[in-house]
Amino acid sequence: MRKKIFSGVQPTGNLHLGNYLGAIKNFVELNNEKENECIFCVVDLHAITVKQDPNKLRNNIRETVATFIASGIDPKKSIIFNQSQVKAHSEAAWILSCVARMGWLNRMTQFKEKAGKDKEKASVGLYSYPILMAADILLYEATHVPVGEDQKQHLELCRDIAQKFNNEFGVKDFFILPEPLIQKEFSRIMSLKDGSKKMSKSEVSDLSRINLTDDKDLIINKIKKAKTDAFPIPSSLEELTTRMEAKNLLGIYSSLKNFGLEKTIKQFSGRNFSDFKKDLSQVLVDKIDPISKEIKKLLKESDFLDKILLEGSNKANEIASEKLKKIHEIVGF
Ligand code: TYM
Repeated sequence: MRKKIFSGVQPTGNLHLGNYLGAIKNFVELNNEKENECIFCVVDLHAITVKQDPNKLRNNIRETVATFIASGIDPKKSIIFNQSQVKAHSEAAWILSCVARMGWLNRMTQFKEKAGKDKEKASVGLYSYPILMAADILLYEATHVPVGEDQKQHLELCRDIAQKFNNEFGVKDFFILPEPLIQKEFSRIMSLKDGSKKMSKSEVSDLSRINLTDDKDLIINKIKKAKTDAFPIPSSLEELTTRMEAKNLLGIYSSLKNFGLEKTIKQFSGRNFSDFKKDLSQVLVDKIDPISKEIKKLLKESDFLDKILLEGSNKANEIASEKLKKIHEIVGF
């Protein structure tokens, strides 16, 4: 089946192994399937929901494009663009914000996590951000959206918004209800320092994550320092339920090798973690070090990266403005 793929990544720096294994690796596979139409968006409008330094943001937009390409996305096959350059996103988000209900947004767990204790001080944008995400997806009539597990609730909200718009305006099937593409295993990579927390760009300690720009020595050092426990690797999945850090490291290895977790457990059962960490470091270095080198090389070619974004946004604009025109007619503008 021909899939229309849309996904986005925030240009907030420190793109990490979680972003790679949870999302970007999947983007590459979808990009390589001949029949798919793929659009990958650098979501800079989403990034400013929390304060950004303008110069760093400009660099991070380029770095995100460089990461896409270094990971294996072919800009000739897929559209790569940054969200702010296609005005339809902001406008569609406004229209959809008049369809979405406060009660729906109040349920969003990511807002609660990101806003923290003092949610009165969070930006309004951070609160309404899932509506912008719905606009991103619906403008392109995406059928499938590859994301990590943390975006599942936002995708459910997107489907609710699409359905309510279609029902309210009597335009059955106008907005396509997108299917999330979330991997069954390893869709949530955890911090290397705390197995109960998601690996995240905003975590203060750099030792909590493998960045896609880390070099060989840094990767080896971070894995050496990654938290484990005093027990050897078990012989069954059940024994891992309460061993979050151990499960995460074995999961990272499995995901990189395209194995199921059970196969990895069988391979390493009975061995201790210092031994396993050597193998894990090796597969990580084999995968991430070439990506890291390529990102650094591409970052020196800013004209090339800007050209990709310009060409991508021209193509995206054509699709999105056409859909927005139809939305205008439907709502009565
Ligand atoms: P963002 O920028 O936080 O993350 C980009 C992608 O990486 C995944 N991810 C993870 N996967 C596994 N383990 C982790 N620790 C981990 N951390 C991040 C995310 O699930 C995501 O797929 N709202 C989105 C961006 C967005 C978007 C969209 C996505 C905007 N519009 C439209 C899809 C469709 C976000 O903030 O992702």
